[in-house]
Amino acid sequence: QTTEVLVFGSAIIDFICYTPRLPKPGETLHGHRFQTGYGGKGANQCVAAARLGSRTALVAKLGADTFGGDYLRQLRDVEGVNVEHVQQLEGQTTGVAQIAVSEGGENNIIIVVGANSMLSSCDVAHADALFQEAKVLVCQLETPIEATLTALKSFRGVSIVNAAPAMENTPRELLQLAGIFCVNESEAALMTQMASIETVEQAQAATAKLIEMGANTVVITLGKLGAVFGSADSKGEYRHVPAPHVPAEKVVDTTGAGDAFIGALAHNIARHAKGKLEDHIAAACAVASQSVQLPGTQASFPRA
Ligand code: RIB
Ligand code: NA
Repeated sequence: QTTEVLVFGSAIIDFICYTPRLPKPGETLHGHRFQTGYGGKGANQCVAAARLGSRTALVAKLGADTFGGDYLRQLRDVEGVNVEHVQQLEGQTTGVAQIAVSEGGENNIIIVVGANSMLSSCDVAHADALFQEAKVLVCQLETPIEATLTALKSFRGVSIVNAAPAMENTPRELLQLAGIFCVNESEAALMTQMASIETVEQAQAATAKLIEMGANTVVITLGKLGAVFGSADSKGEYRHVPAPHVPAEKVVDTTGAGDAFIGALAHNIARHAKGKLEDHIAAACAVASQSVQLPGTQASFPRA
């Protein structure tokens, strides 16, 4: 059985504190609940695709600690991900994320990537068989960019680059090598040096700029507004795909919603190669909308 979705990227353990609101600098707050979870954008995207039914493989690094061992078993035994190329490294700690989630479902996150920083171009060569057979490749920016560029150069199928977390001075090569370049509104604003992106029109303007910067196809996610997309050949016509409405009181945790979107997008592209990108994006918005209604990252992703 060949791999449909190959993810080259991060795996991180999430430490999530649920609090009434996000803390101010220097402030100590009482939270009301704590939860650990399996996270990291790469693994999240992989699990999102796997839960929808894709045959998935992950190339990633964990520490040789209990977190790493637990994570490896979770991916293999619970999520059914091919972890042949997920390695636990001696002397490295598994990546961790400190996450605060407010009552309105907003979050802020600090990541310490640990073992993820060891993902390298050699790992692309080692996983060559997967790179040859997969239909869709997915990368993010929580692991070293040199390795990501190598991965993209080694792949002939559809590649999705989720340029998250945002990076200032993103190399143009990353945009050029990505089949589909996908960012959220704040990442798009940083990359295009626009003050902010809050409306569909602003996202359309940012799409135009990212294409000018060398991107092929751009998708900008806009949270509850859905997404905007366009390509170098769409002649300046960038389309808006609305997301299903979720009443505010049902939004409990938006952490990982972007990853649910990317994983679902990858799954749909791999499964329905002849389908329209607009339909794949609409399906991905629906999956992301479901994920915000449950706490946690992977824990909130729907199963087919
Ligand atoms: O996108 C959400 C993810 O970002 C979390 O799971 C956390 O690990 C951070 O990497
Ligand atoms: Na969630």
